Amino acid sequence: MIRVMENIDLAQCGMIYAKAFPMEHWGIDWTAENATEYLRDFFEQKRFVGYVYEENEEVLGCIFALCKISGSKEEIYINEMAVLPERQGHGIGKQLLNAVKDYSKEKGLAGIVLYTSEYAPAAKFYEKNGFKLSKGTICMYYEYNMVLKNDYCKKMYPTREEAEKILMEAEGCNPGPWGNHSRTAAHCAEAIAARSGMDSEKAYVLGLLHDIGRKFGKRHLGHVSDGYSYMMSLGYDDVARICLTHSFNEKDISKYVGKFDTTEEETSLIKDELNAIELDDYDRLIQLCDSIAGAEGVMDQIERMTDVKARYGAYDQEKWDTNIRLRKHFEDMMGEDLYVVVDKDNYRPEQII
Ligand SMILES: [Fe+2]
Repeated sequence: MIRVMENIDLAQCGMIYAKAFPMEHWGIDWTAENATEYLRDFFEQKRFVGYVYEENEEVLGCIFALCKISGSKEEIYINEMAVLPERQGHGIGKQLLNAVKDYSKEKGLAGIVLYTSEYAPAAKFYEKNGFKLSKGTICMYYEYNMVLKNDYCKKMYPTREEAEKILMEAEGCNPGPWGNHSRTAAHCAEAIAARSGMDSEKAYVLGLLHDIGRKFGKRHLGHVSDGYSYMMSLGYDDVARICLTHSFNEKDISKYVGKFDTTEEETSLIKDELNAIELDDYDRLIQLCDSIAGAEGVMDQIERMTDVKARYGAYDQEKWDTNIRLRKHFEDMMGEDLYVVVDKDNYRPEQII
């Protein structure tokens, strides 16, 4: 249920805020303590309006807003909103937003204002809830010797159109069925992400570029380090990560299916970077899609793994089992059959540009 925020809620709000805005995505090292102090500044303002969402006496989400007189009208500014990550996607944010909307309506305010990063998924959430880009207002910034906060939130992957262009160019350098295999992986990733509460655009781009290292020739393990270095050079760190992780669902380089054709330097690069990564659902998603993506369309997972095994002579059993577990993991998230979601029987890849 939604209720008005009280002083006693602030510590829990700080904890939620620190979890909802992690360092790796936002570039700020929030802790429960510093987030609580940050939020307390809003809470203590005279015209503060705040609500929490509570279940079984536990606060799971919060919204911090402030009424302001702007010219002849009065508006409400949403300063912060946070929902515990594991409870996101279940309508808590919407209820918190509705509480502010109701307040605003009741007080006869002119509207609700908020700022968010162009690159963060939050913008889509607000759009879905009736917010529009403000016309006639621009956000300006005077930069000293500091990094613009939004740079931290910059997308670390290209747009869909850019990614399609990158793939086409790469296929020109090294033509082969890997291009359409990548398109099938992208198609599957997009469809699964859309039903798993993940960013489907990001999933599509990661699927499309996971094998981009193949641009540089017919290499086996080498395509992993080639892809990683290429994407890092373009500032697409999220794609670079996928170039690495898609081949190692156990994060273990020794389980690679194919020839170990990397230099010592490339092997250490793969090992070091893999060690530093904790696999997330995007890594798992592309691993799964790689295990069902054929050049002609979506394949049965077992058939594809059998085919790879026949081509390379072996397929690590743990890797095989993990792929099957990945299918279950996403089917549980979606509540639907994998092959139905990816339209296995009908989807055929084709070049888009
Ligand atoms: Fe692949």
